[in-house]
Amino acid sequence: MRQAVTRLRGAFAIAVICADYPQELIVARQQAPLAIGYGQGEFFCASDTPALVPYTRAVLTLENGELARLTPQGVSVYNFAGDRLKKQPRTLNWNPVMVEKQGFRHFMLKEIYEQPGVVRTCLEAYLNPDWSLGSNKPLATINPVQLGITDGLLDGVEQIQILACGTSWHAGLVGKYLLEQLAGIPTMVQYASEFRYAATPLMPNTLTIGVTQSGETADTLAALEMEKQRRVGKPAPFQARLLGITNRPESSISLLVDQLIDTHAGIEIGVAATKTFVSQLIAFYLLALDLAYRRQTLPVEGIEQVLTGLRQLPALIELILESQERYIEELTHEFAETQDFIFLGRGINFPIALEGALKLKEISYIHAEGYPAGEMKHGPIALLDAKVPVVAIATPGIVYEKVLSNAQEAKARDARLIGVTPLNAPEANEIFDNILPVPAVDEILSPILTVIPLQLLAYHIAARRGLDVDQTPQSRQERDR
Ligand code: M6R
Repeated sequence: MRQAVTRLRGAFAIAVICADYPQELIVARQQAPLAIGYGQGEFFCASDTPALVPYTRAVLTLENGELARLTPQGVSVYNFAGDRLKKQPRTLNWNPVMVEKQGFRHFMLKEIYEQPGVVRTCLEAYLNPDWSLGSNKPLATINPVQLGITDGLLDGVEQIQILACGTSWHAGLVGKYLLEQLAGIPTMVQYASEFRYAATPLMPNTLTIGVTQSGETADTLAALEMEKQRRVGKPAPFQARLLGITNRPESSISLLVDQLIDTHAGIEIGVAATKTFVSQLIAFYLLALDLAYRRQTLPVEGIEQVLTGLRQLPALIELILESQERYIEELTHEFAETQDFIFLGRGINFPIALEGALKLKEISYIHAEGYPAGEMKHGPIALLDAKVPVVAIATPGIVYEKVLSNAQEAKARDARLIGVTPLNAPEANEIFDNILPVPAVDEILSPILTVIPLQLLAYHIAARRGLDVDQTPQSRQERDR
């Protein structure tokens, strides 16, 4: 095996058994996830940790260029050169219930319903209890969040680059909005799959944030590794500062970055990212507040306003889930023959339009595009007719009237208009054929609410079509390559 793996090219995670040694399994990893589970007189290997949870919580994630030999007596790990390595499994604080559907028809639906709890847990983990209006210390001297990120990583940061793929990239776009608007730091969001082949020129004092649900996405890991390597030996301002945002602190990203924000969303089993996306957004709110406090870009009242809004979100998500699921399920009858959807949003909700479209195409196989509402008139409006439903995200705030006016342009092309918008807004009632109502909140917090009906819409359209919502087997395997 050792001789063979050094001759292999590309990414692989292999398990090999030899007819002469049926009690042994040899596994090897290079750029693809491979986890080993430790049982009692039995050992397991899998391409992802959740598969091991029903059997054991003691798990060792192999690193690139490592081999392991699994026998009933134990596990021994080597590098490809044959040197024995000392490695210990870590104990996951997960339980088997996390990988059960608990009465839900699909994991995706279960995970959508877990979102209020995920937001609560993440806020509880990181909001500073000392920050309260009744505090006897001046609030300007108390950091509102406790992310545990060292000063060395954040001090003097002049720009931020976010590297991610898919839904995590969409979270990065919302993150950019928050980091720029709340903390005043110029931020770029790059597809990891592009960045690794055409990186931005090196800039000093740059914080690089890798965002990944699985912690194993090959492009994201490779982009972070490249960023780290190209800064080795450079003068101090050019040294790498790497931060990870993930719900999987035990995964490979933890080996690459200086520090991690664990979003506390737990494992996501459904292939469509839902609760992990919302938890990534919460991590960005908290990071933006941390930086806003350190750089004094927001007054105490501004910070308090965002904090109050964040604390209200779990109850508001619950409200949307309780009040809307049935309605959305019924609405999906009407899309039995639909082949194309357009999702529109602006400002902080433009990434949510992208996310709504991605969710729908990923699990229902319907063609869907997310577009900045203001750009429709520059060409794509030609695609619209009565057969193409348009979902517009219109929440009160700086771009509200603009989105309504863009939606009206779509209506002029006979498109059926579905609004993700607060109920009882007379101007919206007149424009939209259907409304997926969301409570009115501060615009900057609205993405956490507007994404929920879009997740439910994608789920119910796919479920109605009889599709296996939780598994699009090709996508998960492709992603890890
Ligand atoms: O695990 P990651 O967040 O790195 O995965 C990146 C994408 O593959 C992922 O977000 C994908 O787009 C989702 N399955 C979409 O629901």
